[in-house]
Amino acid sequence: MCGIIGFTGHKEAQDILLDGLAKLEYRGYDSAGIAFFKDNGGHISIRKTAGKVNDLRAICDDDNTSTCGIGHTRWATHGGVTNANAHPHKVGKVTLIHNGIIENYHELIEKYNLSDSLVSETDTEVAAALFNKMFDGDPIATIKKTVPLFKGSFAFCIMFKENPGKVFAVRNVSPMVATNTDAGSFVASDLTAFINFSKRYFIVPEYTILTMEEDKISLQDLEGNNVEPEYLEVNWDISAAEKEGYPHYMIKEIHEQPRAITRTISPRIKDSLPNFEDDNIPDSFFENCSDITVIACGTAMYAGNVGKTFIQNALGVPVNVAIASEFRYERPVLNENSMVIVVSQSGETIDTLEALRLAKKYTNKTLAVVNVKGSTIARESNYVLYTHAGPEIAVASTKAYTVQVASMYLLGCKLGLVTNKLSVEKAKEFMNNLKKVPDMIKAVLTQEDKVAELTKRMTNSTNAFFIGRGLDYTLSMEGALKLKEISYIHAEAYAAGELKHGTIALISEGVPVIAIATQDHVYSKVISNIREVKARGAYVILLSKDEKITDKTVCDVHINIPPVADEFTIFESVIILQMIAYYTSTGRGVNPDQPRNLAKSVTVE
Ligand code: M6R
Repeated sequence: MCGIIGFTGHKEAQDILLDGLAKLEYRGYDSAGIAFFKDNGGHISIRKTAGKVNDLRAICDDDNTSTCGIGHTRWATHGGVTNANAHPHKVGKVTLIHNGIIENYHELIEKYNLSDSLVSETDTEVAAALFNKMFDGDPIATIKKTVPLFKGSFAFCIMFKENPGKVFAVRNVSPMVATNTDAGSFVASDLTAFINFSKRYFIVPEYTILTMEEDKISLQDLEGNNVEPEYLEVNWDISAAEKEGYPHYMIKEIHEQPRAITRTISPRIKDSLPNFEDDNIPDSFFENCSDITVIACGTAMYAGNVGKTFIQNALGVPVNVAIASEFRYERPVLNENSMVIVVSQSGETIDTLEALRLAKKYTNKTLAVVNVKGSTIARESNYVLYTHAGPEIAVASTKAYTVQVASMYLLGCKLGLVTNKLSVEKAKEFMNNLKKVPDMIKAVLTQEDKVAELTKRMTNSTNAFFIGRGLDYTLSMEGALKLKEISYIHAEAYAAGELKHGTIALISEGVPVIAIATQDHVYSKVISNIREVKARGAYVILLSKDEKITDKTVCDVHINIPPVADEFTIFESVIILQMIAYYTSTGRGVNPDQPRNLAKSVTVE
């Protein structure tokens, strides 16, 4: 979603803002803009445009010497993609940028008579007009009395005309981090915007006013108390957030999966058994658990589905997987012994966060599987299991999915051991298999050229189907989502046995069907289902453990999945599905890192 950066310091701001915005491009956006104190005096200039950061760069001045400014990438919510709706918005003495949604903007226009100041269709400009109306010469006093009037989520970065060299910021829910460095002070939606300058940062606490000057940064709550920033440090560096020779982040991140899994599981497997001592998750967390609900969105939810199938089959414990945006508006069936696992790469997805907050009204047994250190979901859940995938920049989640699945396996095994539903022997067998996953993935990655070749047949398709049974069905959902989001081909996942209850009507000559048949106990059933679609003209790409299949009544292309225990083929098959999506996307001329309409971290409802 929208990206924010603010800088004031000893260097020229324009390049810092533009480079920071380029780093935030992955969040998804449709227009961009910057504002700065012209010649470091009391006049604020704005450059903004619908389009990309490079379009913005093209309309910026070469001789801009300002050392203080703010920059924004906008993902349209209120109002179309136009120059006027792009941020920053200036009303009177106030210029600001915003990430989030001001839900009561209509009421505010009426109540404070703001309509004459507005030239755009955005809720953000209403906020600028309200700050301006409330302005009494003191920025902090103005922010204190204006912020409580907003309903909704926001991260604001504000410049007041009469305060050159200073940037103010305040937030509710929408993420914002800041730091002070030798070069100056920074604020941004996330660390990638200023990682070139610092690996140290702090999360701006909600409803706390951040004042940035070139040499210092200070925080004050709405009651006027000073707040000490709590600095964190990331354990990855700039190269982790760069392409390192790969044409896109997505393919780089696909290749990073062996390392990401090793980093996630190694510290948590001791004597071949799951161990969460370093995560401060006590065994008591797994005791007396009446039921399990996994809550997440998108790919994270599909990782939850794998966890559900694994835990139910291995332990016989019922697991419910809830779509976060549905869960938060339904009646939760939870009690104090319910275990709730929220899964999120970013740790900032608003629906998942609000679902967690709701779940916490019923139970203290909440655990977050999160990738971004210090993110809101990680901070608000009772326990957190960090996945160590490193920064995931591509919109399409790849390495985050496999480390989430690996984490579900660790958690499932621990649960089984603590509740005596799994023998130590069986748990050791699972953990030893999990340790082999990075090598399994490396072996599958060698098939990249073959996958790239077969997608040539898919680039002109308008529909595709993914089918499988059991774990392969849960994986089909992830495969279909991946193909949809970056290739714009309509794709559906079906339980292989369910097709003939309606969907098989859509199978016609040449429609691609990606069939996954790696689960031994249902293998022959899936093969029969595949024959049914093949008989109706489908173009079948089959993933199975067979060394070779040449029977053209079964499939057109066969991809061998190196034989491993059924629970673990998913780690192999998903790599093939990710590569199918990636090469179909690039084959269609789409940039897989920045698919249309999508944002990396979904911070609005
Ligand atoms: O950051 P999160 O894991 O909470 O994000 C959840 C989904 O928005 C995310 O997985 C989305 O579905 C991806 N674009 C899928 O590739």
